[in-house]
Amino acid sequence: MSTQTTLVTGGAGFIGSHLVDALLARGERVICLDNFTDNYSPERKRANIVKHLDHPDYTLVVGDIRDRGLVKQVFDKHQPQRVAHLAALAGVRASIGQATLYTEVNLQGSINLMDAARHFGVDNFIQASTSSVYGATDHIPFQENQPTDQPLAPYPATKKACEVMAHAYHNMFGLNITVLRFFTVYGPRVRSDMMAYMVMDSIIKDEEIIVYNEGSLHRDWTYVDDIIQGVVAALDKPFGYDVFNIGRGEPVRLGDFIDIIQELVGKPARIKHAPAPASEPPITYASIEKASQVFGYQPHTSIREGLAHTWKWYQEMEANNKSSD
Ligand SMILES: NC(=O)c1ccc[n+]([C@@H]2O[C@H](COP(=O)([O-])OP(=O)(O)OC[C@H]3O[C@@H](n4cnc5c(N)ncnc54)[C@H](O)[C@@H]3O)[C@@H](O)[C@H]2O)c1
Repeated sequence: MSTQTTLVTGGAGFIGSHLVDALLARGERVICLDNFTDNYSPERKRANIVKHLDHPDYTLVVGDIRDRGLVKQVFDKHQPQRVAHLAALAGVRASIGQATLYTEVNLQGSINLMDAARHFGVDNFIQASTSSVYGATDHIPFQENQPTDQPLAPYPATKKACEVMAHAYHNMFGLNITVLRFFTVYGPRVRSDMMAYMVMDSIIKDEEIIVYNEGSLHRDWTYVDDIIQGVVAALDKPFGYDVFNIGRGEPVRLGDFIDIIQELVGKPARIKHAPAPASEPPITYASIEKASQVFGYQPHTSIREGLAHTWKWYQEMEANNKSSD
């Protein structure tokens, strides 16, 4: 059993809190650095970490990755061997008109982490990136070596900038950095600005939900447990510098995704159609061949199964909210 210490930034968020679950279950020490920013309910993030707080191998640091001094202190005090850098502002639509804030958090924050990581000689650094760096390409499925220099919004532009800076840090200082491009992640604890959550929530609250281009957009929705399998495998194996897609490799039509949720909830959504904004690519579609060949990544969860788990979580969360009202 490993006794490594891993720093998980954004460890109170959706994906980060699942990664913390997995690392603690493996007997590792985890330092979570998160500022509980209010891009969506900070109470949701508190709930994500409730079970971690009592764990003897878990330390929570509430703080901002933009604070260079604090980031250095965290490394100095806890001496992590590995970093899974997931903290970010992650909304494509929310980033429109917020390029400065997204750059400060996503790019400058990542530089602060990379700087401390190379200074303290960490063994491996995972940089979370996104399928949206591929933009509106016709080249499907998306392969890691195809051009990614035409992102459609500030969020993917900052994530692409992080990928490029990661290469510079590897080149200058020999820091092992693996970039993982996640494809539309969903599952229990999903962010409130993500489609799976928004559709369930709108049905339960009997509110309208806006659906772009008659539901014809395709997304390579990937269940969070599958994503975590990829992150853990990449953490275990330093590659120098490399980039991997972590998706499902089977895009689903938005309309079909909504149909499954309606079946699970047992009630139709009140859909309002609208044209897709320029920030939305028509399709995301991961080639997962490289991750599969290099570290055995293999997603297992069907959309129906993953949405059933998500719906179960949503109901439990709503029940808890009601009982604490
Ligand atoms: N969810 C997806 O579909 C998806 C897809 C592609 C990439 N990603 C990437 O995966 C990572 C995790 O995404 P998520 O969906 O779990 O989002 P999330 O918002 O649930 O998690 C991000 C966490 O980072 C924290 N954070 C934000 N700004 C911070 C700051 N300045 N200092 C410290 N902490 C800060 C937030 O409080 C939050 O808990 C992000 O880097 C995101 O860009 C997510």
